[in-house]
Formats: sequence, structure tokens, C-alpha cells
Amino acid sequence: MARKIGIIGLGHVGSTVAHQIIVSGLVDDLVLIDANEEKLQADGLDYLQAMPNLATKTNIIMNDYDALRNADIIISALGNIGLEEDGNRFAEMVFNIKQVKQVSAKLKALHYPGVLIVITNPCDVITQVYQQFTGFDKHRVFGTGTMLDSARMKTIVGKEFNVDPRSVNGFNLGEHGNSQFTAWSTVSVRGHSMFELNQDGHLDLDALSKQSVVDGDKVFFGKKYTNYAIAAAATRLATIVLNDGNTEVVVSNYRPDFNNYMSYPVIVGRHGIIEDVPIDLTDDEHAKLAKSAKFISDNFNQFKD
Ligand code: LAC
Repeated sequence: MARKIGIIGLGHVGSTVAHQIIVSGLVDDLVLIDANEEKLQADGLDYLQAMPNLATKTNIIMNDYDALRNADIIISALGNIGLEEDGNRFAEMVFNIKQVKQVSAKLKALHYPGVLIVITNPCDVITQVYQQFTGFDKHRVFGTGTMLDSARMKTIVGKEFNVDPRSVNGFNLGEHGNSQFTAWSTVSVRGHSMFELNQDGHLDLDALSKQSVVDGDKVFFGKKYTNYAIAAAATRLATIVLNDGNTEVVVSNYRPDFNNYMSYPVIVGRHGIIEDVPIDLTDDEHAKLAKSAKFISDNFNQFKD
């Protein structure tokens, strides 16, 4: 059966995700949706002109919501980064919620049965808004969340220990934003736990935890957007779903104990989230998770008014 992904919003992030999907040959059909028809047509033509020099072939469909009806995955990358001048992801919340409500109504009318992956910021709030307005099952609506921040953490820790970042395991949890934290109890480097590696306390773990946020900001302030790392996270998630990976990832998912979306490790497969990954957090990490949940809902309420 043909594999199909839809991307809603072809800005810096959406167009990079599309490019990565095309280059990797992940799908047969790629549906691209954007309000700016001229830019969309130009991107579409640019992608087509890449194909003679690619080993892969992708059928590109533009601005056709109906074509999303039988997609396997829809990725929401819409946003207005111009509103995020100070790097605060909540600054674009009100604008984005308006768009998301319109998109949700369309997806709902299509009875879209697939998985919805949300990149749009503020990621945790927007994922929740999508879920509420589409009414789709919570297990098939999730956000990239701190999968990206965890990659930033792995980059930092890998550099610190001079190892491949893929030899670093573990998670940043909570908000995809300033209140997230690295759950060091989950982190290991080449099989050795971080607590064991840092027995002598030579690393300041609190400072290192904040570094994931700082390094994300460095990218954002350096070019006024971020795209490659988030596109890599989103494409990896899409690959896991399409291949029924049953893979452990940290994404923004509905947490019943806090009644909101935020990042926590789960197993993802063909139909979305299958189950939680059981992790044994310290008391301090539990407190940080609760604080992050509160930060998300406080900001949601503050920016809403
Ligand atoms: C970032 C954007 C995707 O952290 O929020 O790069």
C-alpha cells in the first residue's frame, strides 16, 4: 500500500521536514499544505527539480486537504515564528491556536484515521488543543516535545565524555520550553549511569540540564528560527510510525496525572502511542515534572487572556 504523509505549514520547519522525507524516500505520496500558495508552489517545484538527481521518487500533492483523508501521518508544522522574537514559544500561542482550530475542524470532517504529530509551538499546549478540537484518540495525537531537547542533551553529554551522542541514553522531560529538565536518573553513557559517572561531582548537573535550553536558544537567536534538528526528530518519529517500530521515544503525550500534554517516554508504533516506558524518577525529578506541568498550564492561562 502506498505510504502517505501530510505536512501542514511549509515554513522553515515544514519545508525542511518535507525535504528530509523526500531525500530519504520515506513515502510514495507527500501532501503539502500552506496558506502561502506562491511559496508552496515554489517549494513544490524546487522539490521536483531535485528528483532527477535523487535515488528516490515522491509524488507531491499541494494544498489539497481531501488528499489527507487516507494519509498515514499528518505533521503540523504551522506557526508564526515572527511573533517569537524573544525566544518565548508562548508568544505565538494565540495566533497558532486560531489556525489549529481551523485545521482541526477540517481533519475532523475528513474522519482522518491516522497519527497526528505536532511540532507547532508551544508544542505541549498546541498538541492538547489539536486533541481537544479533533476529538481524536489521545494515543494518536502527540508532539515532538523534548525529543529534540533530549537530542540536544545527548549532543552536550556526548561532547563532555567525548563519545558519539548515540552512545548517550536518557531523557529531557516536561515542557518543550524553559521548564524542561534532564532527568539524570535516566541518563547513561555507554551503559554507565550518569550518577555513577559523576560520583566525584565533577559535573554540575543542574547547569548541564539548563544547557539543552541554552543551546536551543543559540540556534534560534543565531538565525531566528530552528529547522534541521527538529526536522530530524519529526522525521525519525514518522519513520517509527510507518515501520511500526514499537520504539522507545520521549514525546509530548497526554499525562492523566496532570491532565495536560508534556514529554514523558513512551513506546510508539503504527497507531501511535502504545504504552509508557516505566522510569524510576527521583523525588526531585518528580517535583520538577510537576513544576513543569504547572508552568505549562499557568502560561496557557496567562497568554490565553
Ligand atoms: C526548537 C523549536 C522547534 O526548540 O521549538 O528548535
